Amino acid sequence: MRDCADVLMDGLEQLEYRGYDSAGIAVFEKGVIRTVKTRGKLKCMAEKLADEGKPEGFCGIGHTRWATHGEPSDINSHPHSNGRVTIVHNGIIENYAELKEFLTEKGYSFVSRTDSEIVACLLDYYYAERDPLRAIMETVRELRGSYALGILFKDFPDRVYATRKGSPLIVGIGGSEYFIASDIPAFLKYTKNYALLDDDEIVAIDNSGVRFFDIHGIAVKKQTQTADWNIEQAQKCGFPHYMLKEIYEQPEVVVKTLDSIVTDGVPDFSDIGLTDELMRDVKRVFVVACGTAMYAGIVGRYAVEKMARVPVTVEIASEFRYMDPIVGEDDLVILVSQSGETADTIASLELAKSRGAKTLAVVNVKYSAIARNSDMYIHTLAGPEIAVASTKAYSVQIAVLYLIAFRFAYARGIILENEMRRLTAQLYKAPEAIRDVIENKDECQFIASQLVNVETLFFIGRGFDYALSLEGSLKLKEITYIHSEAYAAGELKHGTISLIERNIPVITVATQRNVLAKTVSNMEEVKARGATIIAICRKGTEFAEGTVDIKLELNIGGELDDMLLPLPTVCALQLIAYYTSVLRGIDPDKPRNLAKSVTTE
Ligand code: G6P
Repeated sequence: MRDCADVLMDGLEQLEYRGYDSAGIAVFEKGVIRTVKTRGKLKCMAEKLADEGKPEGFCGIGHTRWATHGEPSDINSHPHSNGRVTIVHNGIIENYAELKEFLTEKGYSFVSRTDSEIVACLLDYYYAERDPLRAIMETVRELRGSYALGILFKDFPDRVYATRKGSPLIVGIGGSEYFIASDIPAFLKYTKNYALLDDDEIVAIDNSGVRFFDIHGIAVKKQTQTADWNIEQAQKCGFPHYMLKEIYEQPEVVVKTLDSIVTDGVPDFSDIGLTDELMRDVKRVFVVACGTAMYAGIVGRYAVEKMARVPVTVEIASEFRYMDPIVGEDDLVILVSQSGETADTIASLELAKSRGAKTLAVVNVKYSAIARNSDMYIHTLAGPEIAVASTKAYSVQIAVLYLIAFRFAYARGIILENEMRRLTAQLYKAPEAIRDVIENKDECQFIASQLVNVETLFFIGRGFDYALSLEGSLKLKEITYIHSEAYAAGELKHGTISLIERNIPVITVATQRNVLAKTVSNMEEVKARGATIIAICRKGTEFAEGTVDIKLELNIGGELDDMLLPLPTVCALQLIAYYTSVLRGIDPDKPRNLAKSVTTE
């Protein structure tokens, strides 16, 4: 049997990308639970294990914590124990204060400042009859919020229980070994087979195998699924960072994603229920998402409105869920998410459903909550995205949104089938253009060398170029810690231009020919105030002498429709951010304070 502490440490390392500030494990060692935990990264854990001795055993739980309630500290790290129960918890217990009061009255005391310790206490409280399953069922009935829990009862050595609601948890099923994890890469090297837990289902794993129970404690059978991800996809494969590897993968994953939707040369969504009738009848489209996925939504908005003449609103999920949105039966709500687990996007999906809107998920992880709970689901095929800053997931999201735009336009009688076919064929040319950007990465490296010491910079653009500016600026902020703002080029002069001083870089995305002259005027405005202009444009774009300091020309053979240029252009912006990060001595894969998957509000 495998050494549990090694498997736990390795699994936590595979999920390091999700972001954390402390770590810990608990293992049954000769029938007794031994816990080792510490503030800091896994290397601090490894040092502590070396100092204190690694717990020896075959059954245990581990967790990397991203602090919400209580600062990062040894005590607040997971696992938490109280009474006879040891747990790890991912998520947030919203009613923890009231539970804490209840438990205090019952005589419990607490050592940490976390909401998670409350769960260990509550489990202990309901464990009065020494029935672990019953204790879990009673406990989850009381919990509000989100949780994925791994649980050890000290009276049941070498047995792990787990349950979930709102937060991801999957069960890896090997030959005679089992795993619980938030994501597949944690156990991919041992097995590709997994089972999913529905909300409040419980799994028990011990020497006799794996058993699943529903919310009432009745045994249920689970289907085993097989991951289509392989271990190479979740490894660096010779690249210095996951982010660079994932940028390089873009041409391939875009084609893969297009292939999964395009039939006989045109996009076809009928198998998921996104029919021409539905697209024809829809009155409005909402795209709801967070972060990079939301910025992909803005590209999608420009594409769908331009092509299909249907109004599209892009909403930040954390706003949408609380703004009492005017959304209903005639609307289509598209939830875009890499992980499919972002708490605010999940809540927005539930809200849209409750208002009777049709919901469509564009999600990269097929076993995720958003993919499973939406009416219709398009699986983007980026494969595992490990770097915190999203790159290839964004590209496949916009590729899908283009296909939706084309089909929408066709369904609403705005374009004929021939035009839909032509546009789809055009989209298939974008990966070549992305490849070209990658081949010419030296130019991005040069731009990065000019940015490495700046304190602040701006991105400007119009239309699709504005959408890209937002994403380019976010990417740069995320992994270089340089302050950056993206502005619609025409809006800069309404206030923000007061920040432009000598030598402040302004990265101008100027690929869209219909607004090029206007963008050029905006470049002149900032140039006149001393800015250093870095222009990203189609090959052959001419600017007046002295306007542009550095020009990055995209070699796209002049063929690609302007509307599709975000695909190669974003690749250049990603590379600029990546190289700037590396030059600043930052690890672009694990930027400070960020989590890959934000499963809390
Ligand atoms: C986090 C990540 C971002 C990501 C956002 C939305 O903030 O750090 O990179 O864009 O969540 O995540 P999702 O999984 O819903 O696309």
